[in-house]
Amino acid sequence: MTALLHPSIVSPIVDFNTIKNLTTTEANAVDQLILNELSSDVILINQIGHYIISNGGKRLRPMLLLLAAKALGGVNDNHLILAAVIEFIHTATLLHDDVVDESLLRRGNESANAVWGNAASVLVGDYLYSSAFEMMVRTNNMRVMEILSKTTTAIAEGEVLQLLNCNNPETSEAQYLEVISRKTAILFSAATRLAAVLSGTNSMTENCLADYGQHLGIAFQLIDDALDYKATQEELGKNLGDDLAEGKPTLPLIYAIQQSSQANAEIVINAIKNGCREDFNAVYQIVKNTHAITYTEQRAEEEAQKAIAALDSLPNSEYKQALIFLAQFAVQRNH
Ligand code: IPE
Ligand code: IPE
Ligand code: MG
Ligand code: MG
Repeated sequence: MTALLHPSIVSPIVDFNTIKNLTTTEANAVDQLILNELSSDVILINQIGHYIISNGGKRLRPMLLLLAAKALGGVNDNHLILAAVIEFIHTATLLHDDVVDESLLRRGNESANAVWGNAASVLVGDYLYSSAFEMMVRTNNMRVMEILSKTTTAIAEGEVLQLLNCNNPETSEAQYLEVISRKTAILFSAATRLAAVLSGTNSMTENCLADYGQHLGIAFQLIDDALDYKATQEELGKNLGDDLAEGKPTLPLIYAIQQSSQANAEIVINAIKNGCREDFNAVYQIVKNTHAITYTEQRAEEEAQKAIAALDSLPNSEYKQALIFLAQFAVQRNH
């Protein structure tokens, strides 16, 4: 058991590297598990698996699981396995997502679909999903399997819902929130919930941690969608304007339509209908003039505050402070 520090001697954490240092040993063990699982005698699986996993990535979801476990008393072997499982599921969704979104840049490099093509990306994404399920079975815990199978089902539903909203400028903020809750937030929520399940906490603590992950995940995707209109390509490691090119009605566009003159609203509406990257500059100006990014960031900040509030009942520790910091990081990040 890791000793919990007395509240008065635990100060707020102010940078990302301090947080990374809190889980270095465990994160290295998780990376080792990931690398072991990628070894297949099918060479393309090794190649693409290593390419996407070794090309960076913030490893935010495993970090959240490990920090939550530490905040609850310590990390056990099953926590390590599930941290790897969560990163595998995340990576599988990215392989599939870049095919669906026709994105050519990921983690600062050419996406796997740009290098090996769509078929290879989809199939290796399937391999990562299946591998994740094989690994989770090793925990021999039905509750874990129930949570993760529900999670992957919800992610798939979120992606399909999003597909249905594509090119539809009438998509509401509520419909958009439903999509991001499922496609993104539920995996964050599963990560922090599973930490609690494997720590044997009571159901109240489990639900608080799940709420934390859910709100943080919504904040994270809101900012991801803002960054698609705001960041630079170098910062993001992804192409700007991919969402517009696909006709994705994300919150910056939904809000810009509401706040614009009819003429400007028509420009955004047509850009969503046509899904055209050439409209980016005109749409970008309207998004900027209507303060749609600020609005999206405010909504994300509200979600981050809800995430932090969900941690209220956890005893204070440097790990709890790290979780608080990560909720703020989700909003303040530029990549
Ligand atoms: C990207 O997630 C997909 C979204 C949910 C927006 P991350 O930004 O966590 O991706 P990596 O793993 O750091 O590349
Ligand atoms: C995130 O959605 C993908 C999943 C959660 C499955 P995005 O399409 O917005 O992610 P990026 O911007 O490509 O990373
Ligand atoms: Mg995408
Ligand atoms: Mg995006």
